[in-house]
Amino acid sequence: MSAHFLDGSEPGVEGLRELVQRALALEGGAAPRRVPGKRIVAVFLNPSLRTRTSLEAAGHMLGVKVITLSPGTDAWALEFGDGAVMDGLTVEHVKDAVSVLSGYGHLLAVRAFAGLTDPEEDRADPVLNAFVQHSRAPVLNLESARWHPLQGIADATSWTRHLGTHLQGQKLTLTWAPHPKALPTAVPNQVLLTAAMMGMDVTVAHPEGFDLDPQVVHRAADLAGHQGGAVHVTHDRQAALKGARVVVAKSWGGWSGYGRREEEARVRAGLSDWMVTEADLFHTRDAGFMHCLPIRRNVVATDGVLDGPSSWAHETAHRRMWTAAAVLERMLGEESPWSA
Ligand code: CP
Repeated sequence: MSAHFLDGSEPGVEGLRELVQRALALEGGAAPRRVPGKRIVAVFLNPSLRTRTSLEAAGHMLGVKVITLSPGTDAWALEFGDGAVMDGLTVEHVKDAVSVLSGYGHLLAVRAFAGLTDPEEDRADPVLNAFVQHSRAPVLNLESARWHPLQGIADATSWTRHLGTHLQGQKLTLTWAPHPKALPTAVPNQVLLTAAMMGMDVTVAHPEGFDLDPQVVHRAADLAGHQGGAVHVTHDRQAALKGARVVVAKSWGGWSGYGRREEEARVRAGLSDWMVTEADLFHTRDAGFMHCLPIRRNVVATDGVLDGPSSWAHETAHRRMWTAAAVLERMLGEESPWSA
């Protein structure tokens, strides 16, 4: 088993539950298991507010130095092409950069979003895997083309905090939401995978054409089945909200929308009624509302939902710090993280 943390499944179901409990303990005031002298090199190829800040805050809590770079801005622009003739804008090949950076840190972390132009390329998660291939240190995924495991653990921690440790069979609805542009699927993929690992009864609601990668849906359905849960997919949003304990809203570009994003944009413009409103939450069973943030207010969900008593969005964002600390304790501590 790998010592990396790439899609959040590495600890296994019990390991994930332990991380959640540890994060809740840290949030409740337990003393962090400090690992002074350790270093993390964090490479951000896309912007971040929560992931970057919570990682740095968690590192500070544990006595860890976090060195953050943004290639193309404050570090050399990276080339990813195998055998590329580098006579253009890129200055340093990922092979060289990762080999060097991983020698400076005990952990190498990276954020690299999906390109959204080639489905097979996004499925292959090329930047994350280039880091894994060339790193001498374990790799921590800070959101890749396909997965966002630190967000997944924070989400699972909020589900546990509100619904208890027995999440099996609890109804979670993941609803597609409007947005001015096509967005990557790492977050909805991660919600699906994490909820499936917890054995939840997950319903994905999206308009026609805004499907998730069927490989991800099948994997989640298989996992959920083994944990006493289930995965359903529907275009009927109202039915999907009925009885939900958790509503997660997120926009994404459809898996079948690759290669026809302009047409998708025209369809998307007519889907503003998928915005989550306070009235929608009346159909649920006192559901908590979640969104990973950043969120376009009054496009994805109304101010009333976000600022209302049902919103778990901000508290989950705060939990990103405690959950990052729980993961770093394991990845940098004495005991091996999730490798046997
Ligand atoms: N949810 C999340 O990952 O936020 P950032 O993009 O700000 O890191």
